[in-house]
Amino acid sequence: MQKRRIVVTSALPYANGDIHIGHLVEYLQTDFWVRFQKMRGHECVYVCADDTHGTPIMIRARKEGITPEELIAESYKRHTKDFDDFEIEFDNYYSTNSPENRDFCATIFSRAKKNNAVFYKDVPQLYCPNDKIFLPDRFVRGTCPKCGAKDQYGDSCEKCSSTYSPADMEDARCAICNTGKPEIRNSEHIFFNLEMFRNYLANWLTTHVAPDVANKLLEWFGEDSKLHPWDISRDAPYFGFEIPDHPGKFFYVWLDAPVGYMASLLNWCYKKGKNFDSWWNNPDAELYHFIGKDIVRFHCLFWPALLHASNYKGPTQVFVHGFLTVNGEKMSKSRGTFISARTYLDNLDPAHLRYYYACKINNTTDDVDLNFDDFTLRVNSDLVGKITNLASRGAQMLNKKLDGKMGDMDDEGRAIVAEFRSRAQTIADHYEARRFSQVPVEVCRLADLANEYFDRKEPWKTIKTDPEATRQVLTSILNMFRLLTIYLTPILPRYSEKVAVLFGEHAYSWRSLDTDLENREISNYEYLAVRVLPEKVEAMVEASKAAAPNPQATAEPVEPLKPEVDIEQFAALDLRVALVENASTVEGSDKLIQLSLDLGALGKRNIFSGIRASYPDPSVLNGKQIVIIANLKPRKMRFGISEGMVLSAGGADHSQLCVLVPAGDAKPGDAIG
Ligand code: 2FM
Ligand code: ZN
Repeated sequence: MQKRRIVVTSALPYANGDIHIGHLVEYLQTDFWVRFQKMRGHECVYVCADDTHGTPIMIRARKEGITPEELIAESYKRHTKDFDDFEIEFDNYYSTNSPENRDFCATIFSRAKKNNAVFYKDVPQLYCPNDKIFLPDRFVRGTCPKCGAKDQYGDSCEKCSSTYSPADMEDARCAICNTGKPEIRNSEHIFFNLEMFRNYLANWLTTHVAPDVANKLLEWFGEDSKLHPWDISRDAPYFGFEIPDHPGKFFYVWLDAPVGYMASLLNWCYKKGKNFDSWWNNPDAELYHFIGKDIVRFHCLFWPALLHASNYKGPTQVFVHGFLTVNGEKMSKSRGTFISARTYLDNLDPAHLRYYYACKINNTTDDVDLNFDDFTLRVNSDLVGKITNLASRGAQMLNKKLDGKMGDMDDEGRAIVAEFRSRAQTIADHYEARRFSQVPVEVCRLADLANEYFDRKEPWKTIKTDPEATRQVLTSILNMFRLLTIYLTPILPRYSEKVAVLFGEHAYSWRSLDTDLENREISNYEYLAVRVLPEKVEAMVEASKAAAPNPQATAEPVEPLKPEVDIEQFAALDLRVALVENASTVEGSDKLIQLSLDLGALGKRNIFSGIRASYPDPSVLNGKQIVIIANLKPRKMRFGISEGMVLSAGGADHSQLCVLVPAGDAKPGDAIG
């Protein structure tokens, strides 16, 4: 078999969020595929990185009062720990905020420019005068112009799904400061001329992605429709790379993100003393990107065109997968199905998710459903019940009753082992073609054969009457189990390592399938997989619900703070306890109530207060002590003079205010503060 040289990537996760089980659909399938290629003896490198640039990361850092660099360093630690714990093994995990990436971006841009693939154009942009920043549409909020739903994004409505421009929103506001009314400002942007690559791309698509993905993209290639130019620049302030010779202009995050694949590979080359070109630009080397169907445009149009424009080799194939659903529905924070990698790990075994995803993932763009009942069933009945049980029963009996010594296989066992081995090519083909779901199907069918043999031979009975025949049966069983483990190694690497230790072997490769283990000792049996407990699944869902932000708390715009006051200004306000002698409605006003107050030695007061909506029957206040500002200049109102201000607090819509009540031992006229 010819040794292949293969570079593989998964999409770079944004540095402003945790890894969740939706992301894992991608990282796990990539990891399965890479591990399989390595087991086959190919030179395969899996590179990835954090996607660190852009407005959301800059704003998030600002809000947290840290620098973007601090934010991305923190996220790098969290991401890499999550990946490690899920047994996802990158050859290099890097950051797009790296010198290698800066250099590649500069080279790609200058080559594209030299090839006349970029042009400049003034574009009207939304700008928040408060934050002094150009706003992406996502950072504008307001009322949907179509259906009237409040607090929608500047480009689309989550209620009615219509799309529009933020200019159509009457009450558009900046979502960063929540007050600024976005202005339109003109700014010169740099565009990548995608239309220039129409023919190249039309051709490229037919051979580098699955036909359904290609056909979808080709719909935009109509004869009288041009491919939209791609805006690759953003104005300062922006967390990213400043464009060489363009002060104040930065590369749009989606330009430098895929370039991050090259940067991570180059960084790996530095560490390993390899030559970048012989991995990336070598016509004999292969390059594969695993991505979700939401980012196809970036990877199957912009990216190959950009590489072509800058004389770099493009991807061999882009593998596109679907989204994750949980129990048949979109992941949801309120239902507790938006589960972070960490919350999963706090409750369940990563190998279980690896196994289950393998059962569900194949080479189509169909969505992948994680159904909790099915998850529990497949892990418990197949991985534990059918597969692992062969080892736990076989190895433990051999250890306990037969000194842990394997003998020869019996003829029948040998024949079954041969049958197991005969599936190697089929299983390898499934892996190669990313039909991962077929691997557990094959393995379980073989495990059924092994279990049938085991049960028919009844070694737990024969051990008393014919120990040597029993040794043969157990030896056969363990050989069968070992082959199943080798087949599952890309999916269950740590499990496989433990099995190799049990048999006193090194890590398995595909070649390991060729050997039989006979007449040798095994080690102590260590547990390989435990059952999924439904209460643990439940606990994980509850923990995810608890971690979800309360939508009430984030949906309402916050009333902005008034200018600061100093302590002297505050101390100038005289707060006093007042006894309500009589509270009544005001003839002719639906907002005000009138309060006759007793301030003890300070005398009586009359105050009008705008809290009628909260106190439709003001008499409920009679006899209560409240808090007022007693030294407010008397104000003449339409209904009389108001001599102070009642303090109240509550909902922002003024219908649920509640007057402030002093502690029980307060007396009218007491000072507060
Ligand atoms: O959609 C995302 O999560 C992006 N961070 C993926 C970037 S992939 C590549 F282009 F870097
Ligand atoms: Zn603002």
